Amino acid sequence: MPTNHDPVLRLRQAFGQEASLVSSASGRLEILGNHTDYNEGFVLSCAVEQRCQVAFAIAPGDKCLVWSEDLDEAIAFRLDQAGDVEPRRWGGYVRCVVDQLLRRGIKLKPFAAAIRSSVPLSAGMSSSAALEVALITGLLKLSGAELSPGDIARVGQAAESAATGARTGLMDQLTSCLGRPDQLVLSEYRGLSVRHVAMPAGYAWVVVDSGEKHDLSQEYNQRRAACERAAAVLAKLEAGVSTLRDVSPATLERHAAAIGEDLPFARHVVEECDRVLRGEKLLLAGDTAAFGQLLFDSHLSSQNNFRNSCLGLDRLVGFARQDRRCLGARLSGGGFGGVSIHLVKASDAEAYAADIAKAFTRDGKEPWHTIARIGGGPSVNELRIKS
Ligand code: GLA
Repeated sequence: MPTNHDPVLRLRQAFGQEASLVSSASGRLEILGNHTDYNEGFVLSCAVEQRCQVAFAIAPGDKCLVWSEDLDEAIAFRLDQAGDVEPRRWGGYVRCVVDQLLRRGIKLKPFAAAIRSSVPLSAGMSSSAALEVALITGLLKLSGAELSPGDIARVGQAAESAATGARTGLMDQLTSCLGRPDQLVLSEYRGLSVRHVAMPAGYAWVVVDSGEKHDLSQEYNQRRAACERAAAVLAKLEAGVSTLRDVSPATLERHAAAIGEDLPFARHVVEECDRVLRGEKLLLAGDTAAFGQLLFDSHLSSQNNFRNSCLGLDRLVGFARQDRRCLGARLSGGGFGGVSIHLVKASDAEAYAADIAKAFTRDGKEPWHTIARIGGGPSVNELRIKS
């Protein structure tokens, strides 16, 4: 039964077009490995069940017509003007995806689309990557073209950077492309290799929003520049170093004086890479308690080294530290706001989520929270159009 929010129905209502296909893709949680992706390092992440769905049809005229159900707004643009965007608006993401596909020689025709997403917006769960990957997979199918998951992620990343001005890494889009139910994704960003690690049975992620939203493009680019400066210093001092991924915590500290004020940023990245690799071993050995401690360590490093936390996130993680049911908690994603993730036994998840939501209720309003279910990769459903 179609609901009011069904994108197929909305496509019909908004533009009078029957959908020929519906694509969808997940948002993501960053589990461990913060700001490591653009340093060619390691990340542990997972796709979530919250998804962005896009219904597509061939457009009746020469313009692309796109409706956003969540923002109650439509945009129209010609393919040859796709790249002329207003920064940081949802339509900018759509247009930049189209522009990036055209730049790669994908032959697109004007299309009509309706978008509906259950990934919370600006919460650090990559609603934009879900939108980009859903759009790309749908548009590829519509035009009979194919790209590998790595290339789909790269198109999404390029669109994200063009739309926001932030020089973001590849992790959000890659996780959305390669997520698997009940599995974590361990990705590395030099060879772009991925392996899946099972989520420990009997445990769950409680996700709680700090309610703080932040346009992070400026801070993000500053942090990235600090990492690149530190790597350039180290490359002159140590053979075989080209990015922070090549540096061990001990080597980094040996060159502390040469790195100077960028040291805490570099330290965060180097130690996060190390935590991801140690975390994988702990998960494989079934030591969930020690794995959880790495999450707390990661958050502390965000607070003290990378300085990409905020008061709301620190309070949520502070709650977790005092509550014996929580094995580990940290911010997830770029930082400066958005969600925190809390590892708990599945049997404690509901009570823990209710208690933390109650503790952070302000003016009678609970923070957005959920017990995350780990989702899968993108999908495309072709529909039979009734004649
Ligand atoms: C954002 C970026 C990612 C990654 C994280 C931090 O989500 O889009 O590429 O850098 O921040 O780990």
